[in-house]
Amino acid sequence: MVYLDNSASSLKKPKEVYMAMLDCMKNFSANPGRSGHRLSLMASEKIYECRNEICSLFNGDDINKFIFTQNATEGLNMVIKGVLKKGDHVIFSQMEHNSVIRPIYTLGKKEISSSMVKADIFGKVNPDDIKNAIKPNTRLIVVTHASNVSGTINDIKEIGKIAKENNILFLVDAAQSGGIIPIDIKNMNIDFLALTGHKSLLGPQGTGALYVGYPDILPLKEGGTGSNSKNLYQPDDLPDKFESGTLNTVGICGLMEGIKFIKKVGINTIFEHEMLLTKRLLENLSVMKNINIHGYMSTKDRLGVVSITIKNKDCANMSEILNSKYDIATRSGYHCAYNAHCALKTENSGTIRISIGAFNTLNDINYLCTALNEISK
Ligand code: ALA
Repeated sequence: MVYLDNSASSLKKPKEVYMAMLDCMKNFSANPGRSGHRLSLMASEKIYECRNEICSLFNGDDINKFIFTQNATEGLNMVIKGVLKKGDHVIFSQMEHNSVIRPIYTLGKKEISSSMVKADIFGKVNPDDIKNAIKPNTRLIVVTHASNVSGTINDIKEIGKIAKENNILFLVDAAQSGGIIPIDIKNMNIDFLALTGHKSLLGPQGTGALYVGYPDILPLKEGGTGSNSKNLYQPDDLPDKFESGTLNTVGICGLMEGIKFIKKVGINTIFEHEMLLTKRLLENLSVMKNINIHGYMSTKDRLGVVSITIKNKDCANMSEILNSKYDIATRSGYHCAYNAHCALKTENSGTIRISIGAFNTLNDINYLCTALNEISK
């Protein structure tokens, strides 16, 4: 199969990821942080090591502020529901995923107000529009770093500056960007960073992390932390405050190897590789007369996430033909981000999304373009 659905989940992982998971599963999948025997300690050591790797990748200064989660959705829910209280106002962008919109809409029923800042037709959010949406009771700004529909990259640094100047907490959804675009938590004034492990971080599904730079928020869940068991209230220290229940040690061992691989190869090298493929794709698509690209036509300010429509053709049907006739994996529809499609003017059709990953090749892109050329006629 030619796999071009990396925004949903990267398929191929570095071999060290599989090996580390198997090793953990077979040899030390004891409960980390609970017992004093050597296998529990070994599991704890791996958790510590992975936390350290994540912290350094995002230029954090305290590894305990990185909380392991199941995915970006869990991290986003933790912050949105943990920060906002009755009477607060939250700003989010039109490019947000349902993992941001749905919790915000649910809180809307509890007298928490929100403003959606529109994006342009390329999916770009203007930081000045965020600034203009600020109210005296604005408590949180939530913006996706890179759109899962168009690949458009937002100016997180500028938005972080606005948030800081106005004393507002800043949450970044880095589900698509973590592991492929360098993110500097300090330099970008990020208070909360939601990451998933199974996309560009090259780890397994069921892993993720949340950076909590402002820990004075309510945890989403409470329970056993392996620490201070006589205390019947949730501990306040990090990471325990936000990490109740047994962690996914097997997954975290895999995630750590994904991150080590990224560091070894270099995040910029992987990004440049994906951009080379994206450039080839965009160049080929732009000369196919029945194909429209929804998002930037050049590689500037974008990731290798490319949404297209084909004139007079149904997106789901085309994606299915790519699957069944050509063995090419793409994703069609609204990608859990309907508002983003409204910005891109694809709200009635959805799109066919082609998402490039670290292990794709120019041959994959050439083969896809041949297929698209045939089916778009
Ligand atoms: N959020 C993932 C996607 O964009 C699943 O496909």
